[in-house]
Amino acid sequence: MIEIDTFIYDTIRPVTWHDNGLRLLDQRQLPEQEVYLHINSTQALHEAIKNMAVRGAPAIGIAAAYGAVLATKEASSDQSKGFAESFNSRLDLLASSRPTAVNLFNALNAAKQVLDPINNLLSWANSWFEADIIANKKMSVQAAQYLTEPVNVLTHCNAGALATGGYGTALGVIRTGFQMGLIGAIYAGETRPWNQGARLTLWEFQKDNIPVTLTADSAVASMMKKGLIDWVIVGADSICLNGDVANKIGTYSLAVLAKHHGVKLMVVAPTTTLDLNAKSADDIVIEQRSTDEILPTVYKKELVDALNPAFDLTPAELISVIVTEKGVIESPDASKMKALINHS
Ligand code: MRU
Repeated sequence: MIEIDTFIYDTIRPVTWHDNGLRLLDQRQLPEQEVYLHINSTQALHEAIKNMAVRGAPAIGIAAAYGAVLATKEASSDQSKGFAESFNSRLDLLASSRPTAVNLFNALNAAKQVLDPINNLLSWANSWFEADIIANKKMSVQAAQYLTEPVNVLTHCNAGALATGGYGTALGVIRTGFQMGLIGAIYAGETRPWNQGARLTLWEFQKDNIPVTLTADSAVASMMKKGLIDWVIVGADSICLNGDVANKIGTYSLAVLAKHHGVKLMVVAPTTTLDLNAKSADDIVIEQRSTDEILPTVYKKELVDALNPAFDLTPAELISVIVTEKGVIESPDASKMKALINHS
């Protein structure tokens, strides 16, 4: 494994515990404004996740971990119910915020296992947060073995510091690769309709002084045909037991295009993104977001409709390598996934 002493591009923290609540960088306002929200109730956190003030699977999981701390405070002063019932109902509210990123459910289930939650949940949540950043850095180092010459990479959505505790999954790999001189061009797909690539990935790279080129999502096929892209590097919202992956809508198209053009696809995600209840993509719930996000208001809703799935499913056979902090899996399948999970 390659050694790296200092991760020099580690500057962004979108979710922190501050002043008895969560300090969230409001991602809806980027790149125009850097505005922080102070969240001090589970109801407010539910809305912040649902409305994407905080987004990206690991960041949602971290927010939920701190949300469990808020739930202990609320349940302690709830006169209408016993502590356990009140606490669990608040975790259920958080769990109903968004359906696809499994980190949300993994964090909430782990929070339920913490003994003496009133006294111990905050230090547990801090560990969940810190472990995420460490995992990102480990993954970036493990992934560097695949960037053996200056490679041109394309990333989709935002799987960066903003989507995690810090440093990023896919963008963590690109950050470390860039620091080590292993990366040529970095392309970021716009990622319609929320434009996480154009708004968030470009913001991160500009903040770190890393050059990046924006591309329309629809330009990728011809870019691949011209040989401009060597690796597609993305994050994940859920990884199934057979290696199928749920990620931002458009990832599956990129995977099919990559296969056709001989481009490799790397999925970078911590083990908190493993869905131990999903045997395959068939078991994943895909979030359908409001048509208002994509349908111009001038149209008559009784005549004109829209489809707005937030995620899609990429079958394992289209993935060259899955990188986790516990190890890498080339050409993933159920038996290799099982070995990784048993080893973890
Ligand atoms: O709808 P979003 O912005 O929450 O979707 C985020 C993604 O799809 C990311 O690629 C994924 O969560 C991995 S983030 C490290």
